[in-house]
Amino acid sequence: MATVVVASPKGGAGKSTAAVLLGTEFARAGANIVLLDCDPNRAVNMWASKAKLPPRIALLSDVDETNIVRTIKQYDRNGRILIVDLEGIASRLVSRAISQADLVLTPMRATALDASIGLQMVALIAEEEEVLERKIAHAVIFTMTRGVRSKQHRDLERSLQKQGVVVIEPPLMERAAFSALFALGGDLSTMPAQGRMESAAVNAREFAQAVYTQLKGAKHEQGTRLQYQPRRHQNPPQAGHGTSPE
Ligand SMILES: Nc1ncnc2c1ncn2[C@@H]1O[C@H](COP(=O)(O)OP(=O)(O)OP(=O)(O)O)[C@@H](O)[C@H]1O
Ligand SMILES: [Mg+2]
Repeated sequence: MATVVVASPKGGAGKSTAAVLLGTEFARAGANIVLLDCDPNRAVNMWASKAKLPPRIALLSDVDETNIVRTIKQYDRNGRILIVDLEGIASRLVSRAISQADLVLTPMRATALDASIGLQMVALIAEEEEVLERKIAHAVIFTMTRGVRSKQHRDLERSLQKQGVVVIEPPLMERAAFSALFALGGDLSTMPAQGRMESAAVNAREFAQAVYTQLKGAKHEQGTRLQYQPRRHQNPPQAGHGTSPE
């Protein structure tokens, strides 16, 4: 029903972290999620191997440039949300994933260097749009930010907004709980407290809501609707297994 592709040519920009947070937050809010780990380094797989998959999340790993389009078309139905995590390079696989996206998200640290590399995505998306003759929604996520925004961060936000680039608000803050996902698996609700847990949980929830709003807007532009509405109040963690996407 909806495909979100997390992509940036910059390594270590926070793609896998954003993909797992988005998947786990959407799932906790009631959505059925399929995570596609398309990075040969298998970061999302590593997260999944640490604990039982949370309810309503399925993981697909054997996805490469030869089968990504088919795989997305196969699973992108029945109200599911697909979240694609990619390697930090520009490649044919990345282009193919983008071609199937309802929304492309580009995480980046709030520094001039990271922004200039991350924004190569804008050019790549424009190329795909030309080939496909359709608009592809795109938004930047500032990641690993501090409680108080640096001047560089604020300047970058202003500059991106001037260029018409959508910036997800709030940014993903630097939180021990977010990096601990890859050591512990599960989601923020099942994890033993790490650092400023409450602040991390609120940040992740608001971030996911902001992405949901962008996704809904993108689907509206396409003349279709998302089949899932996030619950306003999140349920306490439930025991359960990850679901099979079939
Ligand atoms: N918001 C955050 N708070 C704390 N740590 C973070 C955050 N985002 C990312 N990290 C840490 O930064 C490192 C890089 O993040 P991540 O693996 O998500 O980036 P990536 O863009 O997927 O990297 P790659 O290009 O290698 O796939 C990891 O160690 C991760 O735990
Ligand atoms: Mg990664």
